[in-house]
Amino acid sequence: MTGRGLEAAAGAQGAGQAGDGAVVHVPGDADAMRAYGRRVADLLRAGDLVVLTGPLGAGKTTFTQGLGEGLGVRGQVASPTFIIARVHPPLGAGPALVHVDAYRLGSLDELDALDLDESLEDSVTVVEWGEGLAEVLSEDRLEVTITRPVGGTSDADLEQADVGERHVAVRGVGPRWAGVVLPA
Ligand SMILES: Nc1ncnc2c1ncn2[C@@H]1O[C@H](COP(=O)(O)OP(=O)(O)OP(=O)(O)O)[C@@H](O)[C@H]1O
Ligand SMILES: [Mg+2]
Repeated sequence: MTGRGLEAAAGAQGAGQAGDGAVVHVPGDADAMRAYGRRVADLLRAGDLVVLTGPLGAGKTTFTQGLGEGLGVRGQVASPTFIIARVHPPLGAGPALVHVDAYRLGSLDELDALDLDESLEDSVTVVEWGEGLAEVLSEDRLEVTITRPVGGTSDADLEQADVGERHVAVRGVGPRWAGVVLPA
């Protein structure tokens, strides 16, 4: 799994320079990341898949908290580590949020077989560490890559993960996202 993390970190640097999609600079606090998540949530509808990439402590869960606020779902979005997936039912008429942590998973083939209270068709599915795994779920996906421009993945740098700005690269893949303007 460490290998995948390193790959993700390396890939993230390239994604920040990608010509397509939106690249956003998020100033150094978690509230700003949640605010950006709320804006992305405005674009999301039932059946959508969001794949989150970025090193430990990048802000994937924090971004997902903003998605949950924007979608208006029940429950506090937190790290789903150890439970694979957590379902947040909608408070209103919108879709549920299915929040998946694939860090320890070798495959997401079983996700459909999990007895989730909401089907993926009726939900927005967000997968942390989903790069290379979540693609089996849908040909359409929103790829969100979060990096810390300052600091790396050493232990000392990780201790600094609670502070600092972030870069967020967002790219839509597949017909669902063709022509959709992503919030910058
Ligand atoms: N600009 C920022 N954006 C996001 N998080 C930030 C920012 N500045 C500080 N933080 C803090 O960084 C930490 C990010 O943690 P978070 O759990 O969201 O990361 P993660 O990518 O989900 O990590 P993991 O790989 O362990 O799942 C939080 O403590 C958050 O408050
Ligand atoms: Mg997380």
